[in-house]
Amino acid sequence: MAATVTIAAAASIPKAEPGNYTNLKVLPKDISSKDLQSIMADDFEDGLGVSCGFCHANAKDGHGLDFAADTKPEKEIARAMMRMTIGVNKKYFKVKHPKLGDAALVVSCTTCHKGQPFPDGAEPK
Ligand code: HEC
Ligand code: HEC
Repeated sequence: MAATVTIAAAASIPKAEPGNYTNLKVLPKDISSKDLQSIMADDFEDGLGVSCGFCHANAKDGHGLDFAADTKPEKEIARAMMRMTIGVNKKYFKVKHPKLGDAALVVSCTTCHKGQPFPDGAEPK
């Protein structure tokens, strides 16, 4: 529900305009809202078969999710996975300027996850 609202709000921002994101440590800080939304929805949500709330904590006021907060450990694990994924493409597959969400990536989240949050079959912690 909250995700739908966020996407709808972001969709009204012109394409070239960077989103007002305050806590990006791996993605470019000036990423467009279109690019960020597609990474979150296609690579992360669909790639892992989860919804936004798997990584993003509930907002303190009880309305939707606080996307900038780092409260949930899954978000920090996801950052490590993002760095790993970029590194594997660069080092072992010689992708020149690997960027998440780019079709030029050889290895992406879905390569291992295939729509599962726990590709090694581990139980949720
Ligand atoms: C697998 C974990 C994961 C899922 C699922 C996920 N996100 Fe994220 N999200 C992240 C991570 C990690 C970051 C921070 C990236 C960075 O540090 O560069 C982030 C950042 C964001 C930000 C930027 C917040 C800010 O101000 O810094 C927004 C907005 C966002 N996500 C929205 C969404 C939406 C909407 C969904 C569902 C469609 C979603 N996310 C699903 C992991 C996830
Ligand atoms: C090379 C294979 C591989 C790739 C690529 C990969 N992952 Fe993972 N990921 C794993 C494995 C294996 C685990 C389980 C690790 C464990 O159980 O400790 C995992 C676990 C996770 C978890 C933690 C689930 C939990 O709560 O324990 C998150 C979140 C995650 N991955 C996000 C991502 C995201 C986002 C991407 C893409 C940027 C990605 N992964 C790319 C192999 C991969």
